[in-house]
Formats: sequence, C-alpha cells, structure tokens
Amino acid sequence: MPFPIHRPRRLRRTESIRNLVRETRLHPSNFIYPLFLVAGEGKNKPISSMPGVSQLSIDQAVLECEEAKRLGVGGVILFGIPEHKDELASGAYDPHGIVQQGVRAIKRAVPDLLVVTDVCNCEYTSHGHCGMIVGNEVDNDATLDWLAKAAVSHAEAGADIVAPSDMMDGRVGAIRDALDATGYQQTPIMSYAAKYASGFYGPFREAAESTPQFGDRRGYQMDPPNAREAMREIELDIDEGADLIIVKPAMAYLDIIAAARDRFEVPIAAYQVSGEFSMIMAAVQNGWIDKDRVMMESLIAIKRAGASIIINYFAKDAARLL
Ligand code: PBG
Repeated sequence: MPFPIHRPRRLRRTESIRNLVRETRLHPSNFIYPLFLVAGEGKNKPISSMPGVSQLSIDQAVLECEEAKRLGVGGVILFGIPEHKDELASGAYDPHGIVQQGVRAIKRAVPDLLVVTDVCNCEYTSHGHCGMIVGNEVDNDATLDWLAKAAVSHAEAGADIVAPSDMMDGRVGAIRDALDATGYQQTPIMSYAAKYASGFYGPFREAAESTPQFGDRRGYQMDPPNAREAMREIELDIDEGADLIIVKPAMAYLDIIAAARDRFEVPIAAYQVSGEFSMIMAAVQNGWIDKDRVMMESLIAIKRAGASIIINYFAKDAARLL
C-alpha cells in the first residue's frame, strides 16, 4: 500500500471544503451583549480599560440596542450603576431604578430584542459586596430576599430573562418562588451557576464601579482550582429551577463548559468577561495580534467547548463579520 493512506490535508485544501466539514459555527443570535447603564441623557463615558465599551445613559443604550438588533445579536444583558449606593442596595430593587427604567425604554423601542438583567447587589451597595453585610461577613440568607425583590422588579419592568450573579446559596429557588408568587411563572432564570472568584473581572469593576471596599468575593464566588464543585453548583441551581446556566469566566474555564455540556441537558451560556476582552484588546492596540482573527477564534473556542450562548463584549463586532 502506498504511504500515506490517510491524508487529513485533503479536507483542508480549499475554503469550500473547509466550510463543508466545519464542525462548529458562530451565529449572532447566540450572542448576548452587555450594557452598563448610568443616569442622565446623552451620556457616553468610555471605560478606559475596555476599549470601545462605555457607560451609557438610557437614550444612548437604546441606540446600541437598535444597532445590535440590526446586526442580529440575540440580546443584551443590563448592568446598572445607580446615582446613590447604600448599605441596603435599595437601587437594586427600586421599581424606578436605573435597570428597571432601562428595561422599559429598551422594550418600548426594540420590543423583540431579548433583554436579560443581571440580578446582583454589588453595583448598588456602598461596600461593593454582592450581599448584605452582617458583622464582617456577607450574610447568605438575609440577601435572598433582596435578590428576589430585584428579580421581580426586573420582570415587572419587562425583562425577558433574569440572571442572578451573586453566588448566594439558595438564590435560584428564592427567585423562582418570588417570580411565581407575583405572576411571572413564565420568566426564565439564567443562573450564573459556576461563577469563579476571578481576576478577569478587574475591568468590569471599573465599568460598574463595584470594587469591594473591604475583603474580596472569595467567600461566595468559586475557587478557581475546583471543577467537581462546579458540577455540584450547576446541579443545585437546576434543581432549584434554573432554566439556563452560565459558566464564567469562559476562556480559562473551557474544561468546565465541556464537563457541564456532557453532564447536563439545559442550555449552557458562557461569559467571556471584561478581562478576557481587555487582554485581547490590549494586544490588538499594541499591534501584536489581529483583532478579527483572535476575536473569532476565542468565541469559536467557547462554542466548541459546549456553550451555545456567549455573553461577550465583541458581540456587535463579531456579528458584523458573520
Ligand atoms: C456582578 C457581576 C460581575 C460580573 C458580572 N456580574 C462582577 C463581579 O462579580 O465582580 C463580571 C463581568 C465581567 O467581568 O465582564 N456580581
């Protein structure tokens, strides 16, 4: 027999053959684009560590949403930066809070763009933690009621999906109960089920002005070396009623995405977080790597690992290329 019999290069020779045998494809409808909302009008305040990303007043966010819709982006996820922060995170569940107003405005202007809301307190507390501080600790059970109230206020405003990102135990169940009790049985919960205490959130904390004033989030977010624990977190959230789950960050946790895909049947989202975006953009700005190639390669890797939905800051740019 002539050598070699198998020539894998045959299927790589032309773009038409590569296209035929391509195993994974990106589609903009699977992207969720994060937006940071601030009070005021006509405001567009660039976030220095995230080139191309800004804090936006609601009128400007509506324009972004219209563009996202035109580009076929699946949806947006909203983060709010309130004018006043306090110990009780009152801005988080205020029916007239920044996110609640944002949801109403966006749903009015672009009704069929999916609007997801991040349910957490860290942007709203004066201390920057995701929950209520009792003594020197974030008190789990005291926080659940806040989260449930915030989720209901988002659903009331018209949010299509609520996404709790606080990592308190039992919050998915508490939110499900509260939504069901107020007539929002049809509102899905997309839980940040496996959310790690990550250094990659650095730029987000500038964007959301949510750096903890003391301590860190390691008492509630997951320890990066743990994989089995992520499976347990996901299982608990699904048992409590999560409809979709999120693994976060994405690129350093592709093994977690793949393991979750193998084991669970719910749709899996991955969040390519601020630091992952900033790292790529910093190298792009230095001329060290090609933006389009690396952006697409990073997104396809996340999808190949098993995430069907990708929350990411490249969403509009990537949609333009697709
Ligand atoms: C809120 C929240 C964070 C992110 C999403 N929701 C920050 C954090 O936990 O510190 C990070 C997103 C990003 O880095 O892009 N708890």
